Amino acid sequence: MDLILARNRTDLIKARGGGTLALVPTMGALHEGHRSLIRLARDRADQVVVSVFVNPLQFGPGEDYSRYPRTFDADLAACREEGVDVVFAPAAGDMYLPDRQVSVCAGEMGRIVEGASRPGHFDGMLTVVLKLFNLVRPDVAVFGQKDAQQLSMIRRMVADLDVPVEVVGAPTVREPDGLALSSRNRYLSAGERRVALALSRALRAGAGEPTPARVRAAASKVLAEAPPELELDYLVLVDPATFTEVSDPYEGEAVLAVAAKVGATRLIDNMVVRLGR
Ligand code: PAJ
Repeated sequence: MDLILARNRTDLIKARGGGTLALVPTMGALHEGHRSLIRLARDRADQVVVSVFVNPLQFGPGEDYSRYPRTFDADLAACREEGVDVVFAPAAGDMYLPDRQVSVCAGEMGRIVEGASRPGHFDGMLTVVLKLFNLVRPDVAVFGQKDAQQLSMIRRMVADLDVPVEVVGAPTVREPDGLALSSRNRYLSAGERRVALALSRALRAGAGEPTPARVRAAASKVLAEAPPELELDYLVLVDPATFTEVSDPYEGEAVLAVAAKVGATRLIDNMVVRLGR
């Protein structure tokens, strides 16, 4: 069956089949990372819905909302190629009521690490994700580990608010040279792209080390040697569930997360590190 384009709740209800449904929320500008999520969703449910919506609520005043890449025709073609059943693409003005008041508060976890650099970002992200869950009513929703704190926050919201959906995390897709795929990579010049490789290199250097102090030291060293076009925002080693910093002695999984500006482009990346025995 050909792809159905749904613009609102009525379209979504009409498009709904009888079986299980998986949702892949996106802001469009689809790349191989998004496609890997779609394939995972297809394995997990009878029907796949991909949402394409650049959510104004999760962008701060000085951020790239207006210039965020919008490539809708190419996104539709990619979804068709991947066998997506429904693309849900609401018009910007239709998603939020002009007199809206109520939104999701991400709590303390929304104010640390990435949340400290982007005040309000996680509140806006969770608000749109909860709305998408309520509109699409998926059995399963797939999110990338690339946005590790986002994935943890969504798991937290689902647990705290008893949202009836199973959240599935998907591994980060990278270029052969290590750069994590991102819709924002298209902002980078060839030179900036080379500088940006320091992020994944730093994560890989840290990931081989046995203790929190040594993980941080090895990753910091790579970033300190990077060209000055790379402006570090944070490098942290955190508990995957709470995003609070871990310290020596520590055993188990931790997330080594980095954010930096390369030229005018802000990039984030992370790797799961296994510490201790
Ligand atoms: P967006 O940045 O478009 O990402 C959509 C999904 O793709 C997210 O779950 C993200 O983690 C995943 N993704 C991005 N790059 C990836 C990569 N290289 N490998 C694997 N997965 C990757 O994240 C958002 O949109 C928004 O915040 C959203 C959840 C849609 C809410 O507006």
